Amino acid sequence: MKFTIAALSTLAVASASSFVQKEQGVDVFASPNWEKTARATAADMVDVKVVLKHDAARVSLLEEKLMEVSDPRSPVYGQHLSIEEIKDVLSLSPHSTYKVENVLKGYNTTSFETNKYGDIISLSMNAAEAEKLFNTELYHHSHKDAPSNMPTSVIRATKPYHVPSSIADEVAIVENLLRFPRLEFVPTAIPERYAPPAFAGLEADDEFSSCGTKCTGYTTPAVLQSRYGYPTVNPEDVASGNRMAVAEFQFQYYDDPDLEAFSDACGLENTVEVDSTVGGNKPAKCSIGIQACVESLLDIEYIKAVAGAIPLEVYYSGTFSLYDWAVQVNDDSNPAQVQSVSYGNDEIQQTSDDYMFTTNTEFMKAGARGVTIFFASGDQGVWGRSGTTGNVFHPDFPAASPYVTAVGGTDFSTKSVIGEETSWDASGGGFSNTFDIPSYQSDAVATYKSTAELPDAKYYNDTGRGYPDVSALGGQVNPYCIAFGGKGSKFSGVAGTSAAAPVVAGVFAILNNVRLSNGDAALGFVNPWIYQNADAFNDVTTGTNNAGGRQPGFDAAEGWDPATGVGTPNYSSMEKAL
Ligand SMILES: *[C@@H]1O[C@H](CO)[C@@H](O)[C@H](O)[C@H]1NC(C)=O
Ligand SMILES: *[C@@H]1O[C@H](CO)[C@@H](O)[C@H](O)[C@H]1NC(C)=O
Ligand SMILES: *[C@@H]1O[C@H](CO)[C@@H](O)[C@H](O)[C@H]1NC(C)=O
Repeated sequence: MKFTIAALSTLAVASASSFVQKEQGVDVFASPNWEKTARATAADMVDVKVVLKHDAARVSLLEEKLMEVSDPRSPVYGQHLSIEEIKDVLSLSPHSTYKVENVLKGYNTTSFETNKYGDIISLSMNAAEAEKLFNTELYHHSHKDAPSNMPTSVIRATKPYHVPSSIADEVAIVENLLRFPRLEFVPTAIPERYAPPAFAGLEADDEFSSCGTKCTGYTTPAVLQSRYGYPTVNPEDVASGNRMAVAEFQFQYYDDPDLEAFSDACGLENTVEVDSTVGGNKPAKCSIGIQACVESLLDIEYIKAVAGAIPLEVYYSGTFSLYDWAVQVNDDSNPAQVQSVSYGNDEIQQTSDDYMFTTNTEFMKAGARGVTIFFASGDQGVWGRSGTTGNVFHPDFPAASPYVTAVGGTDFSTKSVIGEETSWDASGGGFSNTFDIPSYQSDAVATYKSTAELPDAKYYNDTGRGYPDVSALGGQVNPYCIAFGGKGSKFSGVAGTSAAAPVVAGVFAILNNVRLSNGDAALGFVNPWIYQNADAFNDVTTGTNNAGGRQPGFDAAEGWDPATGVGTPNYSSMEKAL
């Protein structure tokens, strides 16, 4: 008898009908940037995350709690939740976790870890074993545009993936099997061999020549401080426990000689330094290739140029996975209160709504714990990376997620003159095709739609969440001066919303400093505060994000608009509004 039962169950595991496909509707994700190469073998290791399914009502409850603690008008404003409290809200049955763990333990894993919320199991296993567990086929893929000295290879499924049917109801998605990572927004670098923009001489404000002759005419720390009006935060001013972080992905390391060269050239009172690193650093990589470390150095140099002595942490994730990063932040017992990420894709490139909703749950957890997350809004205007495909606008994820703060890009209305700003025409913005308009922005969005001249309705989704929320200089007209290249640093100009995001993050880290110094909680998920205090920003009312003027886009307008959000930081007004 026993033998028969064992034989039957072996048979059940082996038969295709005992698996259930996940992320149905997405068979295989193809990307023009990734080429399939060799079949993965038992000699290759894969890291995946098995994400457990939450009850939809429980996720709604988490959202409710998030909005309550983030709304300045709420009696529980600032009363952020602990990991344990979030776990209680989500109320996943421990039985589900054990059940899934037990099934997964039946496979040959080399590492096996359940997160603190009991809802994500991270596994490492060889590819042959993963093919069995997920009933799929795995191949290596290489990125076409990766520099030849930094070959990029990831293992992904070339057939739909499944989970054993006994745990199909408990599993939401398995992450890192389907989606191709993208190389993060590499900002537009203007190599040193090209002359810096002609210095407008008498017409240019002095701040544009404050980082030495190699950056004449560029946006500098002095330009930003003059325009946005924030104070210099010295070591003695830092509130106990105040921290900020930037997230970096594959190959975006940093090196101290470049940070020092930048601080020296720009005469910064507080030398730019990184206080801690999660996930390691390989500074030698920053001396290789023209784009080496440009994104991370931009993020680090500018968040620190703005926020001075407030300690900075760098999260490095070798996997390129945004989801891995969010999980890492949420498992941190004491995450930095401000997080800046210059990374994103179009919603339609995300492969599944399940993935976006699952990632949103991670953003909600972070916000509920009092963490503010900033994402660059993208550098292709309303059209996104997918361009004019389908002749519809392509909103960005995560920028269009209702649970993060999206940052767009501007330029000065007059080149090299600190004053009014105008929308950068390639700044990402628009309306989500996946997420509804959240209540915190519903009035702002309605006002925009009833007053602005809108593109034809066929281009965008009238019920979607509008983004960006805020903006800052993107550096297209006066590029940001950065130091890069390793020992004997070079100086160069870079531009993009990936410059704007760390600048805004730095300003909010200073606002947190004020709150924490006064014994108040950190700002946490800050969108309700932003929309309730929209007049504390420099309103940007001109320009558009039509990506080069060839196509329709959204115009900037008085108040919030889907090109520049509520505008750029006016520190003194924002501090008054705290
Ligand atoms: C389990 O996987 C590891 C890593 O690939 C491998 O070295 C080991 O031989 C496997 N064990 C079994 C029993 O297959
Ligand atoms: C429009 O957005 C909503 C979310 O507000 C979404 O449910 C719907 O599918 C979207 N429509 C299209 C055509 O993308
Ligand atoms: C910032 O707001 C204050 C009012 O609080 C205003 O006086 C000032 O001109 C604003 N700054 C800029 C750069 O617009």
